[in-house]
Amino acid sequence: MSVNHPFNETRTTSVLVTGGAGYIGSHTLVELLSNGVRPIVIDNFENSSPESLRRVASLCGSEPFTLYEGDIRDSGLLDRIFSEQKIESVIHFAGLKAVGESVREPLRYYDNNVGGTVKLLEAMQAHDVQTIVFSSSATVYGDPHTTPIKEDFPRSAVNPYGRTKLMIEEILTDLHATDPKWKIALLRYFNPVGAHPSGVIGEDPNGIPNNLLPFISKVAVGQLEELSIFGDDYPTPDGTGVRDYIHVVDLARGHVHALRAFQKETVPNFLTVNLGTGRGYSVLEMVHAFERVSGKTIPYEFAARRAGDVATCFADPALANRLLGWSAQLGIEEMCRDAWNWQSKNPEGFKR
Ligand code: NAD
Ligand code: UD1
Repeated sequence: MSVNHPFNETRTTSVLVTGGAGYIGSHTLVELLSNGVRPIVIDNFENSSPESLRRVASLCGSEPFTLYEGDIRDSGLLDRIFSEQKIESVIHFAGLKAVGESVREPLRYYDNNVGGTVKLLEAMQAHDVQTIVFSSSATVYGDPHTTPIKEDFPRSAVNPYGRTKLMIEEILTDLHATDPKWKIALLRYFNPVGAHPSGVIGEDPNGIPNNLLPFISKVAVGQLEELSIFGDDYPTPDGTGVRDYIHVVDLARGHVHALRAFQKETVPNFLTVNLGTGRGYSVLEMVHAFERVSGKTIPYEFAARRAGDVATCFADPALANRLLGWSAQLGIEEMCRDAWNWQSKNPEGFKR
């Protein structure tokens, strides 16, 4: 990793990756690098550590990318990056993602997620960079009336975090309507889980995890006592919530596919696709899969439903397959195996 210095001119394509030090960003860097793409990272490390980038560098060989440490809301910095670097496209991960926090601090979420995206788009426009892949979320479907969920289902949001995703989708839609030369991919992620199979990078949430797999991992490694399962009376086969968990490596590859798709004449300039497996698993199925691969017992208790949770959410991923030539390859065993491999090798995450 080099800081603020261009390097390795043998790579021709360069992609600005905002939030590249984060969970999905770091895994995407690995996939970009292994496909000969030169990433340039901007991250303010608000929810990540430079250690994740050092580890990506060690996985992929020395000096594979350039880092700008800073905030996407800093227009001066963005202007400098686009002036110093030959950037063809942007993958935009930078943002805040904790639902509960967004309810407590809505202005911080609107400022960072929506305000930051506007600054980024302004800089792109000023520098004639008109290709962006955006991290949207299945949260934009709210409580779906049926499953599997298709991209044309109604959208709604029940919290400020979800609303920032809806707003950014609208902003990008308006931008494309004004200038159809923009190439825009809205990737709606379902539930990203797991880690790189090396166990070198993975998810490193701050404090007590909100999401299921990181919580289970911390119980398995002995840092938390037991899992609370939020609800056992949902209209699902075993009463617990059903989600479409997707391996983070599959998800990362979806971004490389999206960039490639834009090089084809046959693919529309504005894409909205689900990135999920198309298969839902219940909380109990995830617990049991994790127990199988880790050999650990996960103690759990049933607790009240969590506000804002839906019973069942899984994707119809057919459009991503058709437009991007992408489909998820890794199953629940690999998701749990790699989550456990990462957690057991790095019980303190990126803190050594
Ligand atoms: P993450 O928090 O691990 O990564 C986000 C990165 O962006 C972090 O490194 C953080 O430091 C950085 N960042 C935040 N605000 C910034 C700013 N203003 N300027 C520069 N850097 C900034 O999150 P993730 O799980 O990798 O998620 C990436 C994106 O995908 C987010 O936009 C998130 O909303 C979206 N998403 C995530 C999930 C999920 O379950 N992880 C699901 C759907 C959508
Ligand atoms: C959550 C967010 C969603 C966000 C997504 C990103 C909420 C309400 N929703 O989705 O907006 O896009 O993360 O990944 O926060 N569960 C337990 N015990 C736990 C944790 C979770 O039983 O300790 C259950 C949940 O009730 C749910 C399933 O596990 O049925 C998955 O939960 P989680 O990993 O938090 O993801 P989502 O709720 O789908």
